[in-house]
Amino acid sequence: MSMETKVKLTKLANCAGCGAKMGAGTLAKMLEGFQTHSDPQLIVGYDKSDDASVYVLDDHTALIQTTDFFPPIVDDPYLYGKIAATNAMSDVYAMGGEPKLALNILCAAEGMDDDTIRQVLRGGYDTAYEAGAIITGGHTIRGAEPIYGLAVSGFVHPDKVLTNSNAQPGDVLILTKPLGVGILTTGAKADLTDMSVMERIYTQMATLNKTARDIMVKYPVHSCTDVTGFGLLGHSFEMAQGSNCTIHIQVDQVPYHKEALELAAMGLVPAGAYRNRTYAEEGVSLKNEISVAMQDILYDPQTSGGLLFALPREAASACLEEMRTAIPQAAIIGYVTLPEDSSIILE
Ligand code: CO
Ligand code: CO
Ligand code: CO
Repeated sequence: MSMETKVKLTKLANCAGCGAKMGAGTLAKMLEGFQTHSDPQLIVGYDKSDDASVYVLDDHTALIQTTDFFPPIVDDPYLYGKIAATNAMSDVYAMGGEPKLALNILCAAEGMDDDTIRQVLRGGYDTAYEAGAIITGGHTIRGAEPIYGLAVSGFVHPDKVLTNSNAQPGDVLILTKPLGVGILTTGAKADLTDMSVMERIYTQMATLNKTARDIMVKYPVHSCTDVTGFGLLGHSFEMAQGSNCTIHIQVDQVPYHKEALELAAMGLVPAGAYRNRTYAEEGVSLKNEISVAMQDILYDPQTSGGLLFALPREAASACLEEMRTAIPQAAIIGYVTLPEDSSIILE
């Protein structure tokens, strides 16, 4: 990791990472009634709550477009750049694609010197390089709060697009990164998270979902999303509703950072987790007793979280085995059935 500068980047922002994301319902309401063109080539668009839009160019190629940006989640500007860029690329991987071109989106706040800005951008460029993508330009302004992220274009074969609305009864679910990032980040702001724990989650947030995607696409995956601002249950809820299925989460199989559970038990839970609970709770039922702190982990907004994907049970163990050679924390966390009383059943 690189040096920490005298500027406390997170102190220049009042909302951390994907926790700054506007709620799903709020946004849908605002877009109501707007005029848009329809186009048969647009196979995933604004009307679906998927990770990115997908536009078919020809029989072999579809264009994926997405953007993500947020205020600093960490004081180290290089790491902030890496995490923001890693997170922005993630929606392309979640659609089964590969990022190719990207544009910087940067707001430099008062108090950020040239070197700090340069370090943020260097983090973005290093991440793009690792992803095999090229940053071709972008737009930079000065403003009240720092913001960084990317608009990313990627490609996928039109027959290989993975939406978040195609899980099938008989599938099992694999999650590739442990939960608890939002809670631990909240703890860090209150100086209640150990630096060693933070180093661990910084590394996790700066890890591209590229490897997970590259392994995933070798298997007959039906549906995929990445677990970000809406938390595991928010994104699972969208997958269950979109797929007209029920998703069963085997809570004791879900990977998470144990330090986050301790903080959640102390009540250190980000506002976004409550927002996610409000959004998804009506569709969630509990089969067993699950502590409120553990539920908070399941609703915790993740920044640059892992992939969550559904594939037939017959293919799952081979996929998981291969996944674990590169990503030891990947786990099978549940399964999919025909619709039952609730969209999500925690068991
Ligand atoms: Co996403
Ligand atoms: Co996104
Ligand atoms: Co998707």
